[in-house]
Amino acid sequence: MGAPEIRTVGVVGLGAMGSGIAQLAVEAGYDVVGREVTSELGERARERIAHFLQRKVDKERMTSEEREAALARLELTTVLSAFAECDLVIEAIVEELDAKLALFAELEGIVGPSAILATNTSALSVTEIAAAVSTPERVVGMHFFNPAPLMPLVEIVEAELSSDDAVEAAYAVGERLGKRPVRCHDTPGFVVNRVLIPLLNDCLRVLDEARVTPEDLDTAMTAGAGWPMGPCTLVDLVGIDVHVHASEALYEKLREPRMAPPPRIVAMRNAGLLGRKSGRGFYSYGDG
Ligand code: 3HC
Repeated sequence: MGAPEIRTVGVVGLGAMGSGIAQLAVEAGYDVVGREVTSELGERARERIAHFLQRKVDKERMTSEEREAALARLELTTVLSAFAECDLVIEAIVEELDAKLALFAELEGIVGPSAILATNTSALSVTEIAAAVSTPERVVGMHFFNPAPLMPLVEIVEAELSSDDAVEAAYAVGERLGKRPVRCHDTPGFVVNRVLIPLLNDCLRVLDEARVTPEDLDTAMTAGAGWPMGPCTLVDLVGIDVHVHASEALYEKLREPRMAPPPRIVAMRNAGLLGRKSGRGFYSYGDG
């Protein structure tokens, strides 16, 4: 049969990850349909993409004409039926299995028979998500890293029943988006989060054990281990709620104590201290 050709890409959920993925796709020349639950949230994503593309124009990495053409390729919608003509739909909604199952079941009834359905899940099982549809061979993981436009990696996750064609098509899209795709199987945390989540949790435990400030811990890891940003800055960027969720999901599956989120960040999550997006996490951010 061969991997299907991808021309139109759908992105469900235009938060930090989804808007970054949509930005990559319009820049790569795909027609993109982006869905948010309200048109206000969709417009916010468009403004975010327009802003980052303008920065590229300012730095002469893109012309104004290219920016305009890229933005014109983005169609916003609030309804899933707009995905009918998409060859690939990438899901980047809330990390809740039930919400993803409901979405995939609905999408299957809308897209064409050869369309690929991808999930950007961080820590849920792609195989379990694929169980929502009667054609699980079309479901793969495409796990991008935050911030998606800047981080070179995309993990192409092969679930239990993914077809080779779907995996290869997703890999080819990853390459066209300018990423370095890596194939892996559907195991908890895939490759990076399997390593990074317990490592970040170790860092956060050291905060209390060694009685260092977040600033000093970040300095230690950037100046002493060559990390591009310190662990507290990184967890604030990823979102404390996202990190707690990923930790809990990995702990539930692997039962390794290092996977469990330290109580301090669970309390922060419960208190609404979510990092950059809420304006306050380990650090304060002026505009949220
Ligand atoms: N989207 C698009 N463009 C962006 C952006 C975003 N979110 N953020 C910044 N940019 C653009 C801006 O235009 C910026 O230029 P400007 O300041 O002139 O406008 C340009 O990119 C460069 O930004 P920075 O100066 O901040 O870039 P740095 O050189 O400092 O690098 C970094 C930033 C790439 C984020 C680097 O600090 C890094 O690699 N940090 C580590 C991030 C990381 O580990 N991410 C993985 C998290 S784990 C994860 O995502 C898994 C998940 O499942 C939880």
